[in-house]
Amino acid sequence: MDLWNGEALVDAPEVTEFLHEQLGREPSLAALSEVEYQPRTTNEIGTIFRAVWAPTGESVVVKLNATPIELDWMLEVSRRAPELVPQVYASGRRLGAVDLGWLVLRRAPHCIDFGCPDDCRELMFAAARFQQVACDIDKVTYPPIDAAFFEWCMPEAIKAACPGPAEEVLARLHDDLRWVDEQSPRVRSHGDVYFDNVLSEIPGGPLLLIDPTPRTANWAWDAAYAQVLSGKESTPRLVPLLSEARHSLGLPTGHPATLERLETILLAWSSMLWWGIKPVRRTDPWFARRVRRNLERCVSAPPG
Ligand SMILES: Nc1ncnc2c1ncn2[C@@H]1O[C@H](COP(=O)(O)OP(=O)(O)O)[C@@H](O)[C@H]1O
Ligand SMILES: [Mg+2]
Repeated sequence: MDLWNGEALVDAPEVTEFLHEQLGREPSLAALSEVEYQPRTTNEIGTIFRAVWAPTGESVVVKLNATPIELDWMLEVSRRAPELVPQVYASGRRLGAVDLGWLVLRRAPHCIDFGCPDDCRELMFAAARFQQVACDIDKVTYPPIDAAFFEWCMPEAIKAACPGPAEEVLARLHDDLRWVDEQSPRVRSHGDVYFDNVLSEIPGGPLLLIDPTPRTANWAWDAAYAQVLSGKESTPRLVPLLSEARHSLGLPTGHPATLERLETILLAWSSMLWWGIKPVRRTDPWFARRVRRNLERCVSAPPG
């Protein structure tokens, strides 16, 4: 059976058999016991197993199908800021005869409530800390969040009847982007900060980021990205929280007077991204209203 469907490992018992075969062959996996497949709950790309790290009895997670960029970044971040990601017990780029990235991470079973202001503040602190650590990590990243990125996703949103003045947001993209870039230089960031990619080992414990998709973007992009993805009315405004977090770490955020304009533009862009690439969200009336409002706000002021 082909375990690979072109994008992810297939969600089938054969994948578990494959991992069990590798336990006896790959020395770094020999320490695993009680390996148990975790069926997918969302459209994750990774294949997740629970297991026990036999030498210490600690609970771990094995992720198959980690990308080479993810592996590099998890290892670098865990070396420089071990408090920011789950402990990495082992990792590799091949398994058996297959080019397949894998990670063994300490299990962090608790999620956050993205309607809770304290949880969101902590999440934005973790995002800021990641940006701080990422400054010095000179590893390959995914393509930047730049004009080309939006010239790809905005037409997707428009084709899918994005609510609000979507054509206008695209038409002024270059002027707005020039203004955004003038406010603060782009930074390397986690790139997929949202509520499924943040965990903690104990309820209310320190937050740990997983699944980095490092990209260069305006510092506030991580917050605007998570805000639109949250889908909750009660999620507080994340851009000001990320700004506070960066400030507390001594990182620049541009002039405070421009923060609201920056937030408005990035929320419009993030709205078009998520409208374009997440068809399931389009039937949610709250989301559609939110997207329309974000786009209307963006075009209510002259470009830039
Ligand atoms: N260290 C961990 N501890 C507990 N659960 C984890 C851990 N790593 C991943 N998971 C679970 O598996 C899911 C998918 O993992 P993730 O690395 O985000 O993969 P994907 O690339 O598929 O999004 C996470 O949202 C989380 O529920
Ligand atoms: Mg993920």
